[in-house]
Amino acid sequence: PAINVEPITFALFGALGDLALRKLFPALYQLDRAALLHADTRLLALSREGGEPDEQMARIEQALRRYIPPHELDDAVLQRFLARLCCLRMDFRRGEDYAVLAQNVSAGLPLIAYFATPAAVYGAICEHLAGAGLAAQARVVLEKPIGHDLASSRVINDAVAQYFAESQIYRIDHYLGKETVQNLIALRFANSLFETQWNQHHISHVEITVAETVGIEGRWGYFDQAGQLRDMIQNHLLQLLCLIAMDPPSNLTADSIRDEKVKVLKALAPITPDILSQRVVRGQYSAGIAGGKPVPGYLEEENSNATSSTETFVALRADICNWRWSGVPFYLRTGKRMAQKLSQIVIHFKEPPFYIFAPEQRSLISNRLIIRLQPDEGISLQVMTKEQGLDKGMHLRSGPLQLNFSETYKSARIPDAYERLLLEVMQGNQNLFVRRDEVEYAWQWCDQLVDGWTRIGDSLKLYPAGSWGPVASIALITRDGRSWYGDF
Ligand code: BG6
Repeated sequence: PAINVEPITFALFGALGDLALRKLFPALYQLDRAALLHADTRLLALSREGGEPDEQMARIEQALRRYIPPHELDDAVLQRFLARLCCLRMDFRRGEDYAVLAQNVSAGLPLIAYFATPAAVYGAICEHLAGAGLAAQARVVLEKPIGHDLASSRVINDAVAQYFAESQIYRIDHYLGKETVQNLIALRFANSLFETQWNQHHISHVEITVAETVGIEGRWGYFDQAGQLRDMIQNHLLQLLCLIAMDPPSNLTADSIRDEKVKVLKALAPITPDILSQRVVRGQYSAGIAGGKPVPGYLEEENSNATSSTETFVALRADICNWRWSGVPFYLRTGKRMAQKLSQIVIHFKEPPFYIFAPEQRSLISNRLIIRLQPDEGISLQVMTKEQGLDKGMHLRSGPLQLNFSETYKSARIPDAYERLLLEVMQGNQNLFVRRDEVEYAWQWCDQLVDGWTRIGDSLKLYPAGSWGPVASIALITRDGRSWYGDF
């Protein structure tokens, strides 16, 4: 069905920041290109610095030309897009500056206020939007990180909640906008084949890997305060875990889905200090070879502090205490400067209850469902078959039943996560956004890990850039008689 787009005012706070230039403006351009912005939709680029409006406009245009693939850059669309844009310089903490903003917001139309700023300013922006009489028509979009622990996230969420109802608040976790992540819902709940097997009777364990090849170039200041646990596990990996582990929602409304996700977060077993070093590995990259070139270690990056003990890698085993998942470990692993950019979920099914083949082939037997989020989005189910040929007896081998999205659905371009998320906010759908209680339960679980590390003085394990992480992360899973899945 055609998507009904209504006119809106889109106000982007922090319009000259990295996220806005690299992701948000290109995503808005793609929506325009796909005819998903109404002719009367206006974009307000709000920034504290960046010179006069025409200089700001030039920077935005430059970013669009840089980040949009050349074959998708259409000059007519670009001109139409830039014509919607109005750049305003303002200090987000000064109430008086919001009068000019209010003059540029179309009365009676929805206002989307996107906060691509540090979370410390969210409260002030909300207060002044309300002061300018804009709160009733606004939807506010909050970027992560919302705080750095439960207590600080509560302060920020309270500040926003003073002026906006939860139904007006859209907390971004861009992983929820990835096409393959949304496909988890379709895969699980539109195929009875999987859902009947989706429990501790049939699944032995689950792996979630989000490996990146990039280092912390240029983002050291932010990242060193956060670390990989807060930057990736607290949000993206726990959200993936929730989508895999949740019970079927009774419908697709935002609250039905979010209620089920919250139940999973509440059921996560605590990892107490006595088992922490067995269950969680913190790593930091040292110098190594990435993409065929020597690269510096985390402590040698520009603007780094050579004594930092911030982690750039985390591997952990999480257990979910409920009927469905009792005894099924979820192994999570994520890091910077790893061997390959790879995000995938692997569901390992249990062995058949009785075994009739040659004993030496036993170790081969295992069905796995591999859900590849990036690159090469797709799904593959490893099934056992017989080797072909007269000279082969009942020799088994494992082969894939494969669905590669770009090959199978040739015509469809896979949209970037932010395109999907911006469109959903424009349509007022909260399904793909994180509710306050989800953020808080996720923080609570991560806080106990941080507290545990402080208590036991857990040491960092180094790993060379371009590797699959510290050796201890391999021990974490082999201790349970398993190994990380993959061709590495
Ligand atoms: C962001 C993190 O949320 O996600 C970054 O702050 C990380 O550190 C990024 O690089 C990864 O996103 P993607 O879509 O490239 O997997």
